[in-house]
Amino acid sequence: MKQYFAFQWHITDDCDQRCKHCYIFAEDNCKPIDSMSWQQIEDCFYNCLDFCDVYNRLPYFYITGGDPILHPDFWQLLTLIKDHDIPFTILGNPFHLNDEVCKRLKDYGCQKYQLSLDGMRETHDWFRKAGSFDITLDKIGCINRAGIRSVIMTTVSGKNIQEVPDIIDTVVEAGANVFAFARYCPTDGEEDSGMTAEAYRHLLDLSYKKFKQYEATGCQTYFSKKDHLWTFYEYEQGIFKIPEDAEEGVIYGGCNCGNCHLTILPTGDVYACRRVQNSINISGARHLSC
Ligand SMILES: C[S@@+](CC[C@H](N)C(=O)[O-])C[C@H]1O[C@@H](n2cnc3c(N)ncnc32)[C@H](O)[C@@H]1O
Repeated sequence: MKQYFAFQWHITDDCDQRCKHCYIFAEDNCKPIDSMSWQQIEDCFYNCLDFCDVYNRLPYFYITGGDPILHPDFWQLLTLIKDHDIPFTILGNPFHLNDEVCKRLKDYGCQKYQLSLDGMRETHDWFRKAGSFDITLDKIGCINRAGIRSVIMTTVSGKNIQEVPDIIDTVVEAGANVFAFARYCPTDGEEDSGMTAEAYRHLLDLSYKKFKQYEATGCQTYFSKKDHLWTFYEYEQGIFKIPEDAEEGVIYGGCNCGNCHLTILPTGDVYACRRVQNSINISGARHLSC
């Protein structure tokens, strides 16, 4: 069985929100909206397929933005993906979802839809916009009813770290299928995330215990340990042991950056990871789509 290679593909920067922490708009809320043309989308799509052929991988797409549904060729892209029978996830906003749209997404083969929750109501709406918290929770139901897995992602910083335990309770109550959190990566010249290492380690500890308690009750939410610091935490706790057959002591865990994941921006720039502003700048590979 071939391994997957995932492309986190930002087809547009267009978005209904200007989140305070967002790597797209942090430096300039009024920056011009980058968006791929249909020709660029098609070229980029077939480039990704060629890449997978060369490296003997199966393609997987994480279609995102901004809010990808705002791209005028969004549904045309999903048709292209469906015609090639390629699995995909959407990372988007809640505002343009309803039962009909979610059903349509499911018909095109959407496996998961990820929404963000960056705090309890006041904090989340401060980051994003008024009303965003309630709409996000409401749309979890639409996603679930369509048979798509609902994923909630929290970006943790000094502003919301204290609220993560309450976010976990809220997400479980709202019936999300998957919950994960990851650290805010400073943008806009900021030098830190507003959290100490000790505070974040304490959050891992609290969350680990909370996840276990929920799992013991048969809770339907899957708690994904996306942040690679989970491996260190579990090693420290004796939960994770370095496998005896680990080649030269190398272990692999956490995010897939550098192994089976790439990020493509609406400009065609390619990043190993969107959170770290590290455009891959090798001749011929910089612009996948041009
Ligand atoms: C760019 S958004 C696109 C999808 C959708 N608009 C949303 O807000 O979820 C994808 C994810 O990136 C996260 N994100 C944005 N800026 C970030 C940063 N500087 N550090 C870490 N995560 C960030 C967002 O919080 C969100 O969970």
